[in-house]
Amino acid sequence: MDFITSYTDLIEKEIQSLAFPSSPETLYNPQRYILESNGKRIRPILVLMASGLCGGDTKTALPAAVAVELIHNFTLLHDDIMDQAESRRGKASVHIRWNVATAILAGDGMFTQAMLQLQRLPETVNYKLLNRVFLEGINHVCEGQALDMEFENRLDVTADEYLSMIAGKTAALIKASLQIGGIVAEAPEEVTKQLGELGSSLGIAFQIQDDLLDVVADPEKFGKKRGGDISEGKKTFLMVKTLDCCTAGEREWLAGKLSNKPLLQDDILEVIELYEKYGITESAQSLMNQYYERASNMLAGFEDSNYKRDLEQLITYLRKREF
Ligand code: IPE
Ligand code: IPE
Ligand code: MG
Ligand code: MG
Ligand code: MG
Repeated sequence: MDFITSYTDLIEKEIQSLAFPSSPETLYNPQRYILESNGKRIRPILVLMASGLCGGDTKTALPAAVAVELIHNFTLLHDDIMDQAESRRGKASVHIRWNVATAILAGDGMFTQAMLQLQRLPETVNYKLLNRVFLEGINHVCEGQALDMEFENRLDVTADEYLSMIAGKTAALIKASLQIGGIVAEAPEEVTKQLGELGSSLGIAFQIQDDLLDVVADPEKFGKKRGGDISEGKKTFLMVKTLDCCTAGEREWLAGKLSNKPLLQDDILEVIELYEKYGITESAQSLMNQYYERASNMLAGFEDSNYKRDLEQLITYLRKREF
């Protein structure tokens, strides 16, 4: 964990220095509430590490790191509405603590503040390129989120479709974080491209793991309700695989339950039993490991430095995470 604190200290200080006005309360209190809850800050850490990896000064990249964390938190506010998720980071979700309209607006406001953060970067930064990568990344997240919702109403989602959905909803921002770190450090285009590929694999591994943790994690640590994905009919890798390999009778039972969401607690437990019966969590772990390996292999191509070692440690830390 020591390797992370030098980054998180900078990030937390920068987030605390965001001067949210005291009014209107319904705009700024929910923003403070989500930003001050204990997020892992993975994406801003990635911005700083990528910048350092490319020879940049990590402090210079801080506004970009904060911008990415603001975007992430904006997507979480809206995601919890879309997923009817009642808890986040061990606390009531913003739309539960306040209401849906407040959560939508607080999210929109964080998007805008993220764009304003980017304006604080030095003038030497290729702002046009940075803006494009940033906005294309966010748009890709929206595409992934749209597919995520469309898939709720389908039983025939394939593993490839699942992978392209998570390449958007989760990997796109992780990819953009690394690319942005590179752009702020004025890295050559080829290097930024490699960072993007690393980020994409890392993000895919991260989401497969998030799907797994939704079922196997201790909800106290994970900060989200167990089985939330099952309850909402999400086509996680676990569900896609199970629908693919279960018996016709089990499929019919699943189809019935999934057509009447949200699922009840007993049904969620039965679905988890099906996952166990077919060794689905092991398949998910193996796919997740493949993507973490890909990310590590991409990183191996970079020149040796302290930042490279920190990124290696971060990948190992993420791989072992339980929250
Ligand atoms: C949650 O991301 C949303 C996903 C993309 C799975 P994190 O697991 O990074 O959430 P925080 O920021 O640490 O709470
Ligand atoms: C994460 O998907 C994608 C975004 C938040 C954009 P999930 O819906 O799986 O994330 P959690 O599990 O709610 O954090
Ligand atoms: Mg969600
Ligand atoms: Mg979601
Ligand atoms: Mg999830």
